[in-house]
Amino acid sequence: MKIGILTSGGDCPGLNAVIRGVVLNGIKQYGHEFVGFLDGWRGVVEGDVIDLPRASVRGISKQGGTILGTSRTNPCDDGGGPEAIKGHMRRLGIDAMIAIGGEGTLAAAKRLTEAGLRIVGVPKTIDNDLDATDYTFGFDTAVQIATEAIDRLRTTGESHHRCMVAEVMGRHTGWIALHAGMASGAHAILIPERKVSMDQVTEWVTDAHKRGRAPLVVVAEGFMPEGAEAAHSHRGLDAFGRPRLGGIADLLAPEIEARTGLETRATVLGHIQRGGVPTAYDRVLATRLGMAAADAAHAGAWGTMVALRGTDIVRTGFADALGKLKTVPEGRYEESAVLFG
Ligand code: F6P
Repeated sequence: MKIGILTSGGDCPGLNAVIRGVVLNGIKQYGHEFVGFLDGWRGVVEGDVIDLPRASVRGISKQGGTILGTSRTNPCDDGGGPEAIKGHMRRLGIDAMIAIGGEGTLAAAKRLTEAGLRIVGVPKTIDNDLDATDYTFGFDTAVQIATEAIDRLRTTGESHHRCMVAEVMGRHTGWIALHAGMASGAHAILIPERKVSMDQVTEWVTDAHKRGRAPLVVVAEGFMPEGAEAAHSHRGLDAFGRPRLGGIADLLAPEIEARTGLETRATVLGHIQRGGVPTAYDRVLATRLGMAAADAAHAGAWGTMVALRGTDIVRTGFADALGKLKTVPEGRYEESAVLFG
């Protein structure tokens, strides 16, 4: 079989390890041939591919990003559609696809599979919020990077007797904030799943300060304080007359400073969390998922994606990954909150 691989949506440390796992297993065990679609679904709807011989994946599992490039193109909405894609596949002699991506990618893969295309999925997000899999590769790396950065914020905060607010990624869920916050000994962790009032944040910050600590607040980008839902629409305009684009940390820091009288600084870690080399854990998980995806394609298990359950890699339907966010359970937040303040 000739199989096309694509990486789609936001990039994620470990994507190259998945590609290598697919290609090496697929060539060595089954003798399949591989090509890569460039820039995610864009390469699929435009028929833009490169060959992926064994030599092309040599040593890439430690590289950040994706050697195939990525985009947020949707194959169903942004041109193409199933019939155009089938045409490209026929013209290029490609029999099947392995789509590595998050919820949007897997939703598109499901629609295309229903239209007769042969696709196996590999779930991906640094946010770790896909319900169908216990952990997503990239999450461990993001937590590691965030923890290292927050440790650095702590020493500068302590030197200046400041409160430091660190914003990490997590639009819908607070997994990175919870883990990096716990690892770095944060005095408050704020996540989208849990409404917390500014009074409570103030209390935690003040308690830490009273004990002679430089208060450290770790906040997920999707958090909004209780009663401040509209805050994002009141950010005002920047120097160029455009809506101000600060993160939630930029909103929280002045509020904390006003309420506590403590000099407070905000840092938004942003895409640093997605770049660079994956941790060993993520490389292993990503490689195993890639190898399992090649097994699934060889078995003709179209419409399935591979997932981690416990320590096993299993196959599950695309539908299992869709519409259900894996949020931080109440108990996990309560557990970390014992240490706040
Ligand atoms: O979904 C992963 C994620 O990293 C989110 O946590 C974050 O909000 C988003 O991607 C950022 O995406 P972009 O690269 O489009 O700015």
